[in-house]
Order: sequence, then C-alpha cells, then structure tokens
Amino acid sequence: MKFTHDQIERKPLLLILLVILVVSIGGLVEIIPLFFQKSTTEPVAGLTPYSPLRLAGRDVYVREGCYNCHSQMIRPFRAETERYGHYSVAGEFVYDRPFQWGSKRTGPDLARVGGRYSDDWHRAHLNNPRDLVPESNMPAYPWLAKTNLDPERIVLHLKALKRLGDPYSDEQIANAPKELAGKTELDALVAYLQGMGIQIKSRR
Ligand code: HEC
Repeated sequence: MKFTHDQIERKPLLLILLVILVVSIGGLVEIIPLFFQKSTTEPVAGLTPYSPLRLAGRDVYVREGCYNCHSQMIRPFRAETERYGHYSVAGEFVYDRPFQWGSKRTGPDLARVGGRYSDDWHRAHLNNPRDLVPESNMPAYPWLAKTNLDPERIVLHLKALKRLGDPYSDEQIANAPKELAGKTELDALVAYLQGMGIQIKSRR
C-alpha cells in the first residue's frame, strides 16, 4: 500500500505516530552524541569535585530554592557575556548532580559569581540583602549563620557521589567531618558561591 501525504493527513492517529517517530529520531540524533563527546563529559581544566564544605553549601542552595530566582547558565550572547563573563560550557557542570542551570532570573545569573565579592559581602548580603542593596527583593536568610552543618549527612552525600563515579578518595571522605566541624550553613554557602565558575575567567 502506498501512502500519499494526503492520505497520511486524513488519518490523525497515523499522523501522530509518524510525527512522534520523526521527532524522536531527530531528538536521538541530537542527544545521543552528547554522551560520547569529550567536551560534554570531561571537566574543564582545573575543575575538581566539590569539597565537603562546598558540597554542603550546594545542598543549602538547593534546599533554600535559590534556583527559583537565580540561573547558573550564561548563554552565548553578547548581552550575557558582557554582563556575566564567558558563556557557560558543559565541562563546567560534570560534578553538578543535579545541575542548577535554571532559566528564572529574578536576580542575576550566578554561574561566575565566584570571586566577584568578598566573603564578608556575601555574609552580610545573605543575612539581609537590603543592608547592601536597598532595593533588593531577595529574601534574607539569617538562620544560616546560626545553624551548624551535619557532617554525617555530607559524608553520606560524598559516598553517594563516589558511587556514581565522582573521583573522591576514601581519605577525603574520612576527613570530611574534621573539615566541617564547627562550620555553619552560611560558611558552606559562601564557600560554594566563591568557587562558582572560576575555572574560566573572562569577566571584564
Ligand atoms: C525572590 C528571589 C530571590 C531568591 C529566592 C534569592 N535571590 Fe539572590 N538575588 C535576588 C535579586 C533580585 C538580587 C539582586 C539584588 C541584590 O543583590 O540583592 C540577588 C542577588 C544575589 C547575589 C549577588 C549577585 C551579583 O552578581 O550581584 C547573590 C550572590 C545571591 N543573590 C545569592 C542568592 C542565594 C545563595 C540564594 C539562596 C539562599 C538567593 N540568592 C535567593 C533575588 C533572589
């Protein structure tokens, strides 16, 4: 039996099935090579897995929903690179599980915020953004400075990441509780922010 275009358009079910087939082939052709391309699976030079403190900070970032207002992805457009620095590349995110790219920008993109401000600036800003930026509508997070980290949780997180293939040594995991002793959630979050996007530097 021979199908003409006209016949296919007259059979909605067949049309739907063929559309799904074509779209999935198109999708697979685009997506599958990404799993094998070095530029998407290899970390950029200088990128290391998150240290226990930065990993703890990342957990706080996710818990507090910072991604609801901040993206972590600089698009390859002039307006973006002029403001935020070099556009983001896949190799910067190989240790991000899950990534925090996002698209909602109530606040600025944070992909290269590392080193942009001092630790003290971040501490004051997170404690109450309006102390530094009077017109800010970012929420205050005063409890972070008063809450100590739970090292056992981070150890479990490190072990899970190691199982997924992140190159943590047993020694690193064993030393994590020592590294986190006495540290607050604010210490961790600031450490996380200060390491963001610093492997590729071209902020003007
Ligand atoms: C309701 C939206 C909102 C949420 C939620 C939010 N922010 Fe913001 N953030 C903003 C806005 C708006 C600004 C710009 C004004 C300012 O600097 O306070 C900003 C600015 C920032 C800056 C300075 C960026 C720069 O390049 O100047 C940092 C860092 C930051 N936020 C971190 C965080 C972190 C970490 C969290 C989660 C704990 C968070 N934000 C949650 C809205 C938000």
